[in-house]
Amino acid sequence: MENNEQKKVVLSLIQPTGTPTLGNYLGAFKNWKSMAQEYDCLFGAADLHSITVRTAPADLRKRTIDLFAILLAMGLDPEKNIIFCQSHVSAHAQLGWILDCYTQFGEASRMTQFKDKSAKHADNVNLGLFTYPTLMAADILLYNADYVPIGADQKQHLELTRDIANRFNGLYGDFFKVPEPFIGKAGARVMSLQEPEKKMSKSDTNQKSFILVTEDPNVIVKKIKSAVTDSEAAVYYSENKPGVSNLMDIYSACTGKSYEAITDEFAGKGYGDFKAAVAEAVVEELRPLQEEYHRLVKDKAYLEECAKLGAEKASRIADRTVRKCMKKVGFWQY
Ligand code: TYM
Repeated sequence: MENNEQKKVVLSLIQPTGTPTLGNYLGAFKNWKSMAQEYDCLFGAADLHSITVRTAPADLRKRTIDLFAILLAMGLDPEKNIIFCQSHVSAHAQLGWILDCYTQFGEASRMTQFKDKSAKHADNVNLGLFTYPTLMAADILLYNADYVPIGADQKQHLELTRDIANRFNGLYGDFFKVPEPFIGKAGARVMSLQEPEKKMSKSDTNQKSFILVTEDPNVIVKKIKSAVTDSEAAVYYSENKPGVSNLMDIYSACTGKSYEAITDEFAGKGYGDFKAAVAEAVVEELRPLQEEYHRLVKDKAYLEECAKLGAEKASRIADRTVRKCMKKVGFWQY
């Protein structure tokens, strides 16, 4: 039996910018759930990150609480793992600043998410949007995470985290653990149901393009039935069939079936049967989470109790890392 000290550490966060989508679920949550059994895990709400885009205070608070309920509803155990809210642990902002000073302007400028988001929010290209990846690096490095389960869109940020950690270690001796991304085989890049060349995103203005994890099953079925496909009426995976390939990827992530098995299953059948099966698989996949979420979200006292426990456990580790890091850098300590 492995004892706790030998267990690898896993960390991943999600922004409370809205209800998580099926993309967040298949790209991240599903792997979080399976890793929670085997590793020492920290999961949480990256609320500091989400103020890079202007949000009404009441919305930020509500979305963060809802997200926390969703994390617990997935079955993540707040006693066994650390489920927390980033802003409850002050060390994130502290280490974020230090890492800013070990990150080059050019490196941060190359981040595709920065480029995309600054184009999308041209009226609010704030410094937080620019230094976002160093705060994310701090989130990870504070806890000496070995693995970071993420969707494919976060890979570049993870690479920057590794570069920052290696640079710091090169200057001050081995200090930070250099983390590895963990990107699942299916569901790592769930695409929009309406424009399958684009990532599924909760901030998309077209409601039909995404599925929210708490969405009514009837709406989920409707959205999948109206997903954009093509006129060929044949189910197989191909770059030239982005809509069908996306639905196959979703179906594969929900059922564990390979693309070949899916092609065989729908040989000679039309897209109607295929979409109905995908919709059913998604509804069944989300059903336990939805039932538990509706129960938990009403229990504010329990959610607060869990948040407090998570913050205490996370702070214990993170404060220690920041203190040791500050010593390495040369800050006066008493
Ligand atoms: P966020 O909040 O955009 O997304 C949370 C997780 O969901 C994944 N994801 C997707 N996966 C597959 N298909 C999609 N369409 C899709 N959309 C999103 C993301 O890759 C992510 O894993 N910067 C991060 C949050 C963060 C973080 C961290 C993550 C802050 N600190 C530390 C890991 C470690 C973000 O904006 O994710």
